[in-house]
Amino acid sequence: MEKLIIRGGRALYGKVNISGMKNSALPIIFGTIAAADVCELSNLPDVSDIALSIDTLRVLGAKVRFTGTDTVLIDTRDVGKKAPPMEYVSKMRGSTYLIGAMLGRFGEAKLGMPGGCNFGVRPIDQHIRGFEALGAEVSYEADGNFTFRAPEGGLVGNQIYMNIVSVGATINIMLAAIFAKGVTTIENAAREPHIVDMANFLNACGADITGAGTSMIRIRGIEKLHGCQYQIAPDMIEAGTYMTAVAATGGKVTVQNIIPRHMEAVTAKLRDIGVSVDVSDDSITVTSDRKYRGTEIKTNPYPGFPTDMHPQFSALLCLANGVSKISEGIYNGRFQYVKELEKMGAKIDVLENDAHITGVRALRGANVKACDLRAGACLVIAGLAADSVTTVTGLEYIDRGYQDLLEKLRSLGADIQRVKA
Ligand code: EPU
Repeated sequence: MEKLIIRGGRALYGKVNISGMKNSALPIIFGTIAAADVCELSNLPDVSDIALSIDTLRVLGAKVRFTGTDTVLIDTRDVGKKAPPMEYVSKMRGSTYLIGAMLGRFGEAKLGMPGGCNFGVRPIDQHIRGFEALGAEVSYEADGNFTFRAPEGGLVGNQIYMNIVSVGATINIMLAAIFAKGVTTIENAAREPHIVDMANFLNACGADITGAGTSMIRIRGIEKLHGCQYQIAPDMIEAGTYMTAVAATGGKVTVQNIIPRHMEAVTAKLRDIGVSVDVSDDSITVTSDRKYRGTEIKTNPYPGFPTDMHPQFSALLCLANGVSKISEGIYNGRFQYVKELEKMGAKIDVLENDAHITGVRALRGANVKACDLRAGACLVIAGLAADSVTTVTGLEYIDRGYQDLLEKLRSLGADIQRVKA
């Protein structure tokens, strides 16, 4: 087991390059199965969830070769229709994308219940509804696997209205519908940048998808995809995490290689609390003197404020002047980080889905434990802003989604080490 030791209280200065977006790289990697050809993916983030998804593809028969630090050739021609081992599926929510990819290509898919960060119940009923609307038969087997089977003549396009705005279900239905006969429409679709990235990748492979990024996506079924070269979009949550970190520690940091449009909710909230944010074509500079005020935030599907930035903003608002409220609109179980922040002197009351945060003059160092990926980022930010030494364990969560966190923070002047616990 390892831990981070953070000597807080240092302002951050400099520039940081943002890596590729984990949450679009995952479906794109699994989407290569639908291509049944060779795809070259670049700007792939070097994080453990991506390593696990690549291992999963290998187990299924894909040939995978890295040709650069962030570039990979994936050949899925020999992938068979077997179920991936549970030890892979149970660790990662993104493995659900195997269903859409396999059902589309083979007319059949088998998968155990996917794992991932624990925010309470994370059902896949909307995915299942979508597959059923395309004609698939879904059964739950005694061995714990779901089995999805297309009817005799294959899947057939349909009009699907999503009861819940779901990133995963939108992408999964898009994947399954690529080869469905006729036209599929997904209404009330999620609009996240990763949906657009996924649609762009599939279109580069020859799919016919329009409307990604709006709440109505249209997929015209085709016979076959082909390989492509594709560059993954930058990670908006990684970018937002560094922006929040410098707001909390003070200093001036430019986050580079980003799409500032994706950052609008975070940018608006930082400005709202009194932090200076300068936006240019592909970078954002945040300048902070640590004097900022409380605010109210509600997390919502994109373009709303992202739930994956909630814990990081909680850390920031602990040091704001006045009282803040963060209302969680996506997950019921997202507040597990609160008891850890309280060890650092935070004053947070959680009532149902709202965190009421009373700003304190300083956070103090403590031994804290990450319980999910973004909770980990929250504790690192709190540690960087605290006035003494913080140790953070649970690094396996942070490693899922932050490439070179230590190196990137050190290059900005943070005093942070990773040691054996
Ligand atoms: N939901 C259902 N039924 C479904 C699907 C979703 O009730 O069939 C609910 C979920 O329980 C949740 C809400 O709908 O309350 C939204 O879930 P969504 O399907 O949009 O989330 P996801 O696809 O499982 C992705 C990201 C998460 C991110 C959410 C929301 C991946 C691999 N994961 O999850 O990322 O929080 O979208 O934006 O893309 C992270 O990166 O830290 C992370 C957790």
